[in-house]
Amino acid sequence: MSYETKQRFQLEGDFVAFGKMKKGTPKSLLLRCDGMAYELKIAKGLRSGIRGLLQPGSRVRIHGREKCQYDRSSKKESQPSKVKRKAVAITPLKQGSEIETRQPEAGRQVVVQVCTKANCWKRGGKQIWDRLKEIQAEQGSSENISLQPVHCLDRCKKGPCLRCLPERHIHCQMDTKHLPDLVKQKTTPKPDSHAEVP
Ligand code: FES
Repeated sequence: MSYETKQRFQLEGDFVAFGKMKKGTPKSLLLRCDGMAYELKIAKGLRSGIRGLLQPGSRVRIHGREKCQYDRSSKKESQPSKVKRKAVAITPLKQGSEIETRQPEAGRQVVVQVCTKANCWKRGGKQIWDRLKEIQAEQGSSENISLQPVHCLDRCKKGPCLRCLPERHIHCQMDTKHLPDLVKQKTTPKPDSHAEVP
């Protein structure tokens, strides 16, 4: 049994990249706020023209609608099992007449989506999440790495799984020892081709 709640949200953060595309038009975008990443669906009426408006590092304020699904049988019923957010207004934050953009930190930005569904979580997903938070803190690299919990990546028999954006590469059977190389590979401007990550 599950139930759903709907509410409005407002987020302010840095635009990272567009997510899913359809015929060259973005359907979603990635926003970074305080070290966390959010993938937000873009309302249809906003999709055309948005590409020219946002650059990586653009500071934006987004208003939208959020649907949270809760599983009554879950011990963690207070935590939604699924969250969908749709941006209905996107406002680049301006300074004077200029759109305020921030240069991304040296290195590429990566969003790491960690599967938090039971199959993956129990097989080490929690340790993966905790280790990524440590790496963010150790390296002071939260400007380059953003984390996002996701419900399922459709590789349930190969958990724990995570996905790196914007490339959308899925990595399965992860171990915490793989994470430093993975983070280095994804955030270094010239990827280290020798780093072996499953
Ligand atoms: S449970 Fe993690 S990929 Fe499905």
